[in-house]
This record gives sequence, C-alpha cells and structure tokens, in this order.
Amino acid sequence: MSVTTTIDAKVARITLDNPDKRNAFDDRIIASLTEAFETVGSDDSVRVVVLQAAGKHFSAGADLNWMRAMGKLDARQNQDDALRLARLMQGIDQCPKPVIARVQGAAFGGALGLICAADMAVAADNARFCLSEVKLGIIPAVISPYVVRALGPRQANRYFMTAEVIPAQRAMQLGIAHEVVPEAQLDESVDQLVSALLSGGPQAQIEARNLIERVKTGAIDQAMLNDTAERIARLRTGSEGQEGLSAFLEKRTPNWR
Ligand code: COA
Repeated sequence: MSVTTTIDAKVARITLDNPDKRNAFDDRIIASLTEAFETVGSDDSVRVVVLQAAGKHFSAGADLNWMRAMGKLDARQNQDDALRLARLMQGIDQCPKPVIARVQGAAFGGALGLICAADMAVAADNARFCLSEVKLGIIPAVISPYVVRALGPRQANRYFMTAEVIPAQRAMQLGIAHEVVPEAQLDESVDQLVSALLSGGPQAQIEARNLIERVKTGAIDQAMLNDTAERIARLRTGSEGQEGLSAFLEKRTPNWR
C-alpha cells in the first residue's frame, strides 16, 4: 500500500507509505490520496487529519517517471491528468476537517503543495524543502496557489526561480512550517496541535478558515463589514456557538469534546 489511513481517537492519519521511492506520487497515489481525504472528510468520527509519511523523507514530490511518461500523451490527457493533482490539492485545502502536515526529511516539488494546502505544518529540524521544478524544466503550477499563499509572491518568486533548498528554520520564517522541532519531538508537537484542535468547535474551525479566505484580500468596505457581521451573527446564534458559549458560562465541557 502506498497510502494508508488509520483512525484513532478522532484523529485520522493519512500516511504516504512508499519510502523506497521517497514517497514520490504518481497518478495512482494521487487517486488514493484524493480518496483518503474525501473519506476522512466525510467521516463523522474524525475531527482532525494528520498527513504524514513513512521513512526518512516526507516526499520527493511528483513521480518523475510518471511526469516524463506524460510526454507520450496528448494535450487533453495531460490537462486531465494535471487537473487530478490540482483537485487533490484543493481537496486538502478544503477538507472539512483541520489538516496538519507532519514533515521530516526532504519535501520537494509537489510535496510542498501538500504541506501548504494543509492548515498547519510541523517540521523536524532535519526537514528541507525545495521547489525544484525549474531544475527539471517544469514549473510548480498546480501547487502554486497554496505555496504562494504561504510564502507571499515576493519570496515565492525567489524560490520558484532559484530552486534553492530551504532549511527547516528558514521554512518556518517563510511561513511553510508553523513549528520546527527535533525529529524525536515531532509526534509530541503534532499531538499538541491535535489537542488544541479538539478543544475547538468543529464547525467554528472550518468557518474560521473560510473567514481568512474572505478577509485576506479585498477592501475593508461596507461589504466586508456586512459579511463579517453576518458570519458572527450566524455562528453565535447557531447550535455550536450557543453550546460553546453556554458551556463556558456554565463551567462545563462543550459537547464536541
Ligand atoms: N520521482 C521518482 N522517483 C524518485 C523521485 C521522484 N520525484 N525522487 C526520488 N526517487 C527515487 C530515485 O530515483 C531512487 O530510485 P532507485 O532506488 O530506483 O535508484 C530512490 O527514489 C531514492 O532516491 P535518492 O535520490 O537516492 O534518495 P535520497 O534520500 O538520497 O534523496 C531526495 C532524496 C528527495 C532529496 C532526492 O531523491 C531528490 O532530489 N528527488 C527528486 C525530487 C524532486 O525534484 N521532485 C520534484 C518533483 S516535481
């Protein structure tokens, strides 16, 4: 199996499990990952998703044998195939459960898309990142919306064009990783985030993510004021908001815990 999923104590762990090939992903693995995210996204027993990888490295990105073989297919087939990877990234980005990427070793090319599409990332201090595509004569196309969102366009410009290897600490400064810890503490750090996420309202967390997408661009005009007011008005009168507010005031645990 190249992708495995386990569910335990409300946490789904989706594991890239092809360490011999440095967890590089081809069309088959992309389909499995897409399905895994769809499955855990619609599973009511799951509150948090951890995307992780077996072996020394998180992932070497797209399988370069598969990429090269695409040269034999026509433009239509190439477009459809590339779209499937784009949809995987979108599926992670819009997963109805918070997604944490757990990163060790190399995370190259498309792997950076997986990480930046996740809500948050914890990296081992041995992690290193690289947008290596231009060295191969290609570009980080379908991952770019998520990578540019994380890095900002100016930093993305540098790393898209130079394909420099980005060490873990620098990756944290750039916004790729939220935490960098010794590899032995990776699980503990992920668990801390899981625990923080389990304490929040599940609907509120996804609404919070959507809120950021709404406010990150656009003028702070009347439409923005109306929209943000509508969101809090809706959330605080909804069942989850009422439960969370009541639980605090009644000094009890909210029902989602
Ligand atoms: N696609 C297909 N196979 C890959 C691969 C990829 N992206 N990355 C590594 N592999 C394969 C190697 O060909 C090698 O196969 P082999 O055992 O049959 O010879 C095996 O995985 C091990 O690779 P190796 O380079 O020896 O591992 P490493 O631990 O020394 O280095 C990396 C790991 C990730 C730094 C290195 O493999 C690498 O740079 N890979 C290319 C990453 C890349 O540019 N991806 C961009 C995709 S768009």
